[in-house]
Amino acid sequence: MKIEKTIEWIKQDNLKGVSRMIDQTLIPYEYKKVDIDTTEKMYNAIKTMIVRGAPAIGIAGAHGVILAALESLNCSDFKSEVISKANYINSSRPTAVNLSWAIKKQIEIVENSNETNEKIVELLIENAIKLENEDIEINKKIGEFGSAVIPKGATILTHCNAGALATVGYGTALGVVRSAYEKDSTIKVFADETRPRQQGARLTTYELTRDGIDTTLITDGMSAYFMKKGMIDVVVVGADRIALNGDSANKIGTYMVAIAAKYHNVPFYIAAPKSTIDSSIKTGDEIVIELRDKKEVTEINGKSICANDVNVINPGFDVTPSSLITGIITEYGIFKPEDLYKIFE
Ligand code: MRU
Repeated sequence: MKIEKTIEWIKQDNLKGVSRMIDQTLIPYEYKKVDIDTTEKMYNAIKTMIVRGAPAIGIAGAHGVILAALESLNCSDFKSEVISKANYINSSRPTAVNLSWAIKKQIEIVENSNETNEKIVELLIENAIKLENEDIEINKKIGEFGSAVIPKGATILTHCNAGALATVGYGTALGVVRSAYEKDSTIKVFADETRPRQQGARLTTYELTRDGIDTTLITDGMSAYFMKKGMIDVVVVGADRIALNGDSANKIGTYMVAIAAKYHNVPFYIAAPKSTIDSSIKTGDEIVIELRDKKEVTEINGKSICANDVNVINPGFDVTPSSLITGIITEYGIFKPEDLYKIFE
């Protein structure tokens, strides 16, 4: 897929602008962009997953603070108004640290500036665009480092979508796939469907087949079967929050894949930028797991698939313990989980 930003700030007249994003709830049926122009719409876009994937919602958060500042321009208490709206956007999804990371960077600009409100908006826009461009550069570096661990002709298993759509462009786990494919067009990908929101089926197969990469869709319960058959050479997935010891939160079902990979001696890699590492937490036990609407499990395309009175629980993520992780691929190189703290040195 050609690099067209999944999410970008579009400048309009005066200081005005919108956050333009691909509506990921419509793919693969429709490829459409939507313009988000209020903080409330941004909260909903993140919550309903119009924009999703840790790095992409980080950029959405950065754009959200610009919208917060535009909405607060004439407020007597401009700074505290912006911060309160920024906190509101931050509360939309709890697990991916990139959201609070990017919002914090924007709030620092607001707090540390003695400029006019208008100038602060300009600085926020400048910073958001810088974060967008850096995201693509970082993903290319992750891809370059990661491609070194992909054997010639390998079949790579991935879970969820850690691709161009989950970032501003290129992707993290799929950045590794893309970079490996540039060097060896015989590599193949097995994509887990990823229930309940089917990011693997809807988004990963959409991206990879457009790039001409040989992609096979499997359901979530099939990965151990194919590992046992010797058909998977390496697993590469993304992450939403990584603790200092390497424990990594990613889409629900990742943990199960990691256990199967360990059992079958298949290397299991996390691909993620430094901004996904939460240096304030020592282990994955401290990661808050988002609980999502039960309807994501009980319904498909608006139709119930189960008994009306059944109990349902729908955690969006799980934490893969570092003991199951072969390496964490970052823009600074590949780290063994026990060495991850060195990235901050
Ligand atoms: O609920 P989602 O679709 O936002 O979850 C996305 C994932 O779990 C991704 O694997 C993760 O954010 C990494 S994206 C580069």
